[in-house]
Amino acid sequence: MDNTNEYLLKFKGYNFEKTIVKIEHLETMEDFEIRDDDVFIITYPKSGTIWTQHILSLIYFDGHRNSTENIDTMDRAPFFEYNIHNIDFVKMPSPRIFTSHLPYYLVPNGLKKKKTKILYIYRNPKDVLISFFHFSNWLVTLEATDTIEHYLEKFLDGKVVGSCWFDHIRGWYEHRHDFNIMFLSYEDMKKDLRSSVLKICSFMEKELSENDVDTVVRQATFQNMKSDPRANYNNVIKNEIGTRHSGSFLRKGTIGDWKHHLTVEQNERFDKIFKRNMDKIPLKFVWDINEE
Ligand code: A3P
Repeated sequence: MDNTNEYLLKFKGYNFEKTIVKIEHLETMEDFEIRDDDVFIITYPKSGTIWTQHILSLIYFDGHRNSTENIDTMDRAPFFEYNIHNIDFVKMPSPRIFTSHLPYYLVPNGLKKKKTKILYIYRNPKDVLISFFHFSNWLVTLEATDTIEHYLEKFLDGKVVGSCWFDHIRGWYEHRHDFNIMFLSYEDMKKDLRSSVLKICSFMEKELSENDVDTVVRQATFQNMKSDPRANYNNVIKNEIGTRHSGSFLRKGTIGDWKHHLTVEQNERFDKIFKRNMDKIPLKFVWDINEE
């Protein structure tokens, strides 16, 4: 069955958010000219994208870190495929930070020169599922679903923005040697934000003073981002996109929220599918805040 509907636009086998994507842009994306010092944040939706956008903006831009400038995170590290503010990417000064949910086979070909750094952030997919369920019911531009059971079916069938979670992460992991890519998990960031920031700095070859690292970590905590209008997307969502009810982009920000939502049967079903799809992918997944 074709999964294109009023919310999804399928392009080259991958589902985009229909109301905010421009087909002309999708058609030219692969030829977009990449600079060696560009940085790409790649995620499947609801895996910590905004968090990583904020962390990288804080690492890269003094003015962001010292609050001497007032640019929203989403304009600092704009979405590559959803350019909702019509930023002229060609005129953006280097270093440019782009954010994307694209699968490995749709990104600009220039990324295969292996110079440009890609940071792939992944999150345990049960928490992604629950976060996405709530988010889709909140945003008017995404299809609402009545029950977790129905959403689980859609998610596992890839009938959501971002298509199938398993295809996304497996595609990127299996093609990792074609790119200059580092994988880092949401749960690593959650459990030890400071060492995650240091890992990111090291991959980006950015040396920050101890003080600056402290500032990045402080400003990137869930509570601080939730109350920072530059960082939490609330303005854009409320003023430009629209929601069905009250809520916040930064919803819970925890590990293991799935335990409050999935039944034992749903969880076992998920585990089986996870095992079948991820058997050969040695990335570490953390499902519970108390796991070592
Ligand atoms: P929840 O819905 O589970 O709360 P994305 O930016 O990819 O859409 O991901 C959004 C998820 O990341 C939301 O998860 C959000 O709360 C969480 N998040 C955003 N900033 C965070 C932070 N500083 N610390 C922990 N989680 C954060």
